[in-house]
Amino acid sequence: MSEGVQTSPAFTKRVFSGIQPSGGLTLGNYLGAIKRFVDMQDSGVETIYCVVDLHAITATLFDPDTLRQQTRELAAGYIASGLDPQKSILFNQSQVAEHTQLAWIFNCVARMGWMKRMTQWKDKAGKNQENASLGLLAYPALMAADILVYHATHVPVGEDQKQHLELTRDIAIKFNHDYGVDFFPITEPVIEGAATRVMSLRDGSKKMSKSDPSDMSRLNMTDDADAIARKIRKAKTDPEPLPDTLEGLDDRPEARNLVNIYAALADIPPEQVIAEHAGQQFGTFKPSLADLAVAKLEPISSEMARLMQDPAEIDAILRGGADRARAIAAPVLERTYEIVGMVR
Ligand code: TRP
Repeated sequence: MSEGVQTSPAFTKRVFSGIQPSGGLTLGNYLGAIKRFVDMQDSGVETIYCVVDLHAITATLFDPDTLRQQTRELAAGYIASGLDPQKSILFNQSQVAEHTQLAWIFNCVARMGWMKRMTQWKDKAGKNQENASLGLLAYPALMAADILVYHATHVPVGEDQKQHLELTRDIAIKFNHDYGVDFFPITEPVIEGAATRVMSLRDGSKKMSKSDPSDMSRLNMTDDADAIARKIRKAKTDPEPLPDTLEGLDDRPEARNLVNIYAALADIPPEQVIAEHAGQQFGTFKPSLADLAVAKLEPISSEMARLMQDPAEIDAILRGGADRARAIAAPVLERTYEIVGMVR
């Protein structure tokens, strides 16, 4: 496929990423995505972050009030985590029509074979592909449009989205090649490290998920201090003390997960957590982790609750972000239409 293709130096570095407003936010969303996004906003590069509401309806059509609530809650989660809507552009996808307009062009560039090969399509459509929505199949072409309508060069995502970013590169390459232009950049994925992949508190081999039936398996970004401390105290572990090297965590997925969570929350490498806590029993380590988690997460959950009391304020921020996003996207779409041969 597109291995080894370099981003053309002609494009200025610009970061874009998106999260679906498809349900409650967990520590996994925070450490794996939102916190990384916030950390990038001070790197001197333009950062654009999106609530991808159009992607959220590809698998299920939500109750409209629920979808609105989830969209505002995700926006509140971004802001409460430190995203500054002055520094970064924060908006919801459906307010910038250029995404879907460019997606149509990409629907005509991408091949059916490419789409049907996507593992997320296969997983989500399951055995009954005939009954999956057309939007679910087209999902990665809309994702490519999200990114390329800003000529974004860097996209922070989880490992599970790597294949979609390769498809984004393939779409850019085919478009550029078919029209003999160097118009779309070849986007670089910025994949989360193992240390920010947050696993279930009940089973260290499963990803922490909002859809797990047990609420004890996850920390929600809306949990209060009591809930955070209780879930960490009850987290599954093993009877061994913490080892004195990182390798000592091999084959101890629950212990490794708690060490990784500690490291990510404290913004230190896992090696340092091990160095500082070697030989400790979980009876000692868990209370330290609970204190740290409460200190970092409680201010976020209470700020989210405060923001959610004023939905009009959140909506105003999203509209302001959408205006700024549109100002970048509109000329890119216009030029795309010209390249393709649409009369303007
Ligand atoms: N597909 C991504 C996910 O589920 C969300 C997403 C949509 C996205 N458009 C994007 C991520 C553009 C990065 C860039 O995680």
